[in-house]
Amino acid sequence: MKKLGLGILGSGKGSNCRAILEQIGAGKLPAEACLVVSDVFDAGILDIAREFRVPNVYLPPGKFRTRLEPNVETELVRLLQDAGVELVVLAGFMRVLKEPMLTAFPERIINIHPSLLPKFPGIESWKQALAAGEKITGCSVHYVDAGIDSGEIVAQRKVPVLPEDTPESLHVRIQVAERALYPEVIARFCAV
Ligand code: GRF
Repeated sequence: MKKLGLGILGSGKGSNCRAILEQIGAGKLPAEACLVVSDVFDAGILDIAREFRVPNVYLPPGKFRTRLEPNVETELVRLLQDAGVELVVLAGFMRVLKEPMLTAFPERIINIHPSLLPKFPGIESWKQALAAGEKITGCSVHYVDAGIDSGEIVAQRKVPVLPEDTPESLHVRIQVAERALYPEVIARFCAV
C-alpha cells in the first residue's frame, strides 16, 4: 500500500508529533512523515523530528502574532508540496492558517483540539471545561477552515472530569487521549 505523505506543523513540545512518529516507526500507521515545520525556532517538535530523522524546517512566521505573513504562507505551501505532503497535520500549531494553505490542501488539513468541540474553542480549553463544571470533556480532531477550531469534526474521544481535578491533571488526561486518537484518525485517511 502506498504510504500517505504527512506534513506535521507545530509550535510546541510535540508530544502528538512523537505519538504519530512512534506509530509510523512501529509499522502501525501506513504513512510517511515527509516534513515537520515549526514557526518557533527552538520548539521541541523540531528536536523530535531530528530524533526520528524526519526532514524539518523552522519557518520564521513574519510580523503577525496569530497568523503567518502571506508570503510566508506561500512558502509553506511550496515546502509542503515539494516534500510530497498529502495530509497536513496540525499538532499544537499556534497560528491560524489562511490562504493560500486552505485552497492548496482542501479537506486535507486536520487539527487536534483539547475539548469536545463545538464546546470550548480557543486557548486552554481544559480550564474552560473545568470552570464550566463539565463532568465529561475530551479532545476533537477536526478539519481546518478559516475560523478558530470551527471546521467539521472528524472524530472525538471523551475524557472524564474528576472531582479532584486541577487544570493540570485534567490537561494530562486529555493529552493522553489525544496521543491515542490522532494516530487512529490519521490511519483512517491512509485507508482511503
Ligand atoms: C495539544 O494538546 C493540542 O490539543 C493543542 O496543542 C497541544 C500540542 O501539544 N492543539 P504537543 O505540542 O503535541 O505536545
